[in-house]
Amino acid sequence: MKPKVYVTRKLPQVALDELKVACEVTIWEYESPAPGYEVINDQIGDKEGLLCLLTDRIDAALMDSAPHLKVISQCAVGYDNIDIEAARVREIAVGNTPGVLTDATADFTFTLLMSAARRINEAISYVRDGHWQTWGLTILQGQDVWGATLGIVGLGRIGQAVAKRAHGFGMRIFYSDRERKIKIENELGVKYVSFDELLRVADFVSLHIPLTDQTKDLIGTQEFDWMKKDAILINTSRGQVIDMDALYAALTSGQIAGAALDVTDPEPLPADHRLLELPNLLVTPHIASATTSARTRMAQVAVRNLVAGVQGKPLIHAVHD
Ligand code: DGY
Repeated sequence: MKPKVYVTRKLPQVALDELKVACEVTIWEYESPAPGYEVINDQIGDKEGLLCLLTDRIDAALMDSAPHLKVISQCAVGYDNIDIEAARVREIAVGNTPGVLTDATADFTFTLLMSAARRINEAISYVRDGHWQTWGLTILQGQDVWGATLGIVGLGRIGQAVAKRAHGFGMRIFYSDRERKIKIENELGVKYVSFDELLRVADFVSLHIPLTDQTKDLIGTQEFDWMKKDAILINTSRGQVIDMDALYAALTSGQIAGAALDVTDPEPLPADHRLLELPNLLVTPHIASATTSARTRMAQVAVRNLVAGVQGKPLIHAVHD
């Protein structure tokens, strides 16, 4: 008999086919709506494996509803939705999908950076709303990317991939991190500075940190005060690392020039949220890794972690020992 697993969202077919070879699969077939906590809880009782997304809350109570559960396979690199300690004490393996989405996410970070610098969302509305009557020197002026100073908060895989792209734009690159990474600094030509120094000097601040108790609300009123008045904040990590009320205040008071967010708090951001009224804010719906190849590879890695876990083998990418 094949081990039973539950998959909380539609998967790319190639990954689903691979999973079905090794497991008896029950799947929530839709992209939307998400199955919800109660549905997952109801489904998990007889399952040995769970493949979930970053929007699924996987807590201790849910694990207790699943006495046979051997593995939780997160189809994402971030796993702040999962109670890792609860999984560890219950000897449930947890996997994630680092590496395969690095370049897609770094590309998208630059998409946001350049779009915000050159006011692309305002420019598109300007044309669509019929304001384009002539060519003028003062119309829709943006900021230079070439030669600007980039501050990367978190020099992990994605932060490093962003630094590589920034060299192509002649940028001066600073980073801050929990620890200094001298070898990578030398390889990439980036300079380590303290977090507050980074915020003071950067024209663009880009966040590449996981959401933890330490990084929640990392960017708040004090941090916006440190930033330059013409700075632009980019976030492709997790929405909760920015205090959204402080962001609203900073954007409306001119404390910073703009922001471009692929992640928000809450997420999804309601269409009538006051932040969406601001012309100097650009929001996309958590799609930084959303290329066909990156999302397919994420699903394939998640499937391989799941299959390894139900077979009692080491995961390709394990989150805890
Ligand atoms: C992740 O993997 O954590 C991203 O947020 C989605 O790709």
